[in-house]
Amino acid sequence: MDKRPCGKSGIDVSVLGIGCWAYGGEEEDYWGAQAQSDVDVVVRGALDQGINYFDTAEAYNDGRSEESLGKALRGRRGEAVIGTKVSPGNTEPSVLREHCDASLQRLGTDYIDIYFLHWAITKHSVPDAFATLAELQSEGKIRSIAVSNFGPKQLTEALETGARIDVNQLCYNLASRAIEVGILPLCRQHDIAVFAYMPLLQGILSGKYETLDDIPPERTRTLHFSGERPESRHGEPGAEEEMCRVLAGMREISREEDIAMDQLALAWTMAKPGVASVLVGVRNMQQLEANAPAADISLSPETVTKLDELTEPLLQKLGANADYFQGAANSRVR
Ligand SMILES: NC(=O)c1ccc[n+]([C@@H]2O[C@H](COP(=O)([O-])OP(=O)(O)OC[C@H]3O[C@@H](n4cnc5c(N)ncnc54)[C@H](OP(=O)(O)O)[C@@H]3O)[C@@H](O)[C@H]2O)c1
Repeated sequence: MDKRPCGKSGIDVSVLGIGCWAYGGEEEDYWGAQAQSDVDVVVRGALDQGINYFDTAEAYNDGRSEESLGKALRGRRGEAVIGTKVSPGNTEPSVLREHCDASLQRLGTDYIDIYFLHWAITKHSVPDAFATLAELQSEGKIRSIAVSNFGPKQLTEALETGARIDVNQLCYNLASRAIEVGILPLCRQHDIAVFAYMPLLQGILSGKYETLDDIPPERTRTLHFSGERPESRHGEPGAEEEMCRVLAGMREISREEDIAMDQLALAWTMAKPGVASVLVGVRNMQQLEANAPAADISLSPETVTKLDELTEPLLQKLGANADYFQGAANSRVR
């Protein structure tokens, strides 16, 4: 499996990474119940195929995602690159230290490879948070400092603290291209690797839903769908006609190129310069087997252009807001 560098960290990650948000989930959680036996099989199967990056967060299922990943990695920790995230409300220095220690404990490890600020800091001092992260790094508790959902203004402010930021993790897929407008070029300019999250738009770009109305309501909360749909909070009109055209066009290109639609979506994101790892949520062995081959697909420049052209009207309609859960006025990515 192709590995790509994470900024100046010296850490190389597989071009396909495993998103662990669902892990440790119970019936009432966002992704529903997740069996540990499936997590164990996926994590070990991924390592066997050369996938080394695993992405979790303290917020995922109240820490149970970290615990579940830690269990699955027992005996094989050294083969993995673990990324976890501290929530933006926990960045006051002493609290940040406590939360880092709690993540280490749940993961059952004494170092975190890549430690992310999950969203930009709004309440606490930005320089103090980055100074604390630098201390944690020099103590060996974290190997690399990273951010997530940081827009150009937030990234610039973070860099002004003098911190070495190795990764910015952002939503990026064929239907969610806002980062191309400003953040992706800025990350490339500063040698900050981009990790692309939600590459299947929560499964939707795999083509498994016949119509938009077949998609479970909690997966239609994003800007792509009408703000009047249940569970939505963004208050914008959405872009449902453009979404239908994108899905129909992807089906056609998938047939023409003889590449499964899920792999087409993943391979497009991997083909984009600046992207180091594409983080896909994988809940069972079947999904690992469906997604992993995407790492071996090298789309021709013509196919990438065809997909770019197909999704351009959707990009134009949704605009440059890279917070796909909130309307532009309340965007947390600035
Ligand atoms: N930094 C952030 O703020 C942030 C935000 C969101 C996500 N993330 C990270 O990015 C990771 C990936 O994002 P995501 O899980 O939200 O979205 P995703 O990767 O686009 O979608 C993953 C979901 O789609 C389904 N799926 C996976 N492979 C499939 C296939 N081949 N065919 C059909 N369905 C398939 C699975 O759910 P079902 O089986 O239930 O359908 C899976 O949980 C997360 O796990 C998390 O680590 C980070």
